[in-house]
Amino acid sequence: MAESLALVGIGSLVTNEPSLGDGPLGILPDAAVVIEDGRISWVGPSGECGDADQRIDLEGRAMLPGFVDSHAHPVFAGDRAAEFAARMGGQPYAAGGIRTTVAATRAASDDDLRAGVQRLAAEFRASGITTFEAKSGYGLTTADESRALRIAAESTAETTYLGAHVVPQEFAGRPDDYVDLVIGDMLDACAPHARWIDVFCDRGAFDADQARAILTAGIARGLLPRIHANQLQHGDGIRLAVEVGAASADHCTHASDDDLALLAGSDTVATLLPGAEFSTRSPYPDGRRMVDAGVTVAVATDCNPGSSFTTSMPFCIAVAVRDMHLTPDEAVWSATAGGARALRRDDIGHVRVGARADLVSLNAPSHVHLAYRPGVDLVDRVWASPPTPKVGS
Ligand code: NIG
Ligand code: FE
Repeated sequence: MAESLALVGIGSLVTNEPSLGDGPLGILPDAAVVIEDGRISWVGPSGECGDADQRIDLEGRAMLPGFVDSHAHPVFAGDRAAEFAARMGGQPYAAGGIRTTVAATRAASDDDLRAGVQRLAAEFRASGITTFEAKSGYGLTTADESRALRIAAESTAETTYLGAHVVPQEFAGRPDDYVDLVIGDMLDACAPHARWIDVFCDRGAFDADQARAILTAGIARGLLPRIHANQLQHGDGIRLAVEVGAASADHCTHASDDDLALLAGSDTVATLLPGAEFSTRSPYPDGRRMVDAGVTVAVATDCNPGSSFTTSMPFCIAVAVRDMHLTPDEAVWSATAGGARALRRDDIGHVRVGARADLVSLNAPSHVHLAYRPGVDLVDRVWASPPTPKVGS
């Protein structure tokens, strides 16, 4: 019989299960959760919680499902602090900066890359993130992309092949040759280590026809599509995401009413990345307009050295509330259940019997404090079941 752990005295528990408590977040006051074998085996009023092998009293703290970071680029070397500082001095952000990180990443040893991923994974965990996605995209050769995915797969099951991040220097003026590589040898080498395929479909990166060819090739190899869409300008990225059945269209900074109607009528989640607009000093997309249009919204960190070097989901929640006009409840839902939807996962992002026991307690009486107390580290403890390694990596 597995050891059981009862977490009792939870002042306010966000379950994301409306049937278990109040409102869309299914909030249970004075609650308890029992964990057995890495799964939740009981949820209910603290006073009704039965015996368990171990018992921890949360003394009125708030608890919520571990954050699900459905968009991150943690496999890289070097940093771009100078580029950030120049931007804050008035320079614009451009996709071409990615090549600076590509040069540093190619030059790094496996051990250095691995150490970088592990350092960021520890930061994710400290901010309450219990599942994170990890993209390649800073190698852009067959060997460097597959190495990035192999290393990422040591830390997460949610690995994403992003060979189509930008056209590398050595293919300048020959983008179609690079697309051939991305859907040829590079895809062969990367597919065994990836669950997802992604494309940066935007100004300075790949156009919609190239992106369609890349996503279609990945789908034919069993990878699931997601897409960087409409970050830098309005384009066909969101439309393409819906067309290919992508799990999410990410950024959506420039979205028309038609784009939102397409998203609302589909299974494609719009993933908001508040750190990117913050760190590139760009106008924020209107999350309120998306939710009101019926779009399912996720919030993620976009952790990367160029446009959003943060691992803090509480920071992203605070900005999503303040500047993207989500309510605190909506932002917390989007960073938990929304992220799970964007990764097409049913076992995370909520607290119910059978779900993974991925939980965060806060040194605060409610989840609203995540936005109400910006910049304050409110994470008390993080419980997370071990990641399931990707088969084949
Ligand atoms: O999601 N938009 C494309 N990729 C990253 C930025 C990468 C970089 O600047 O290094 C993003 O923001
Ligand atoms: Fe990104």
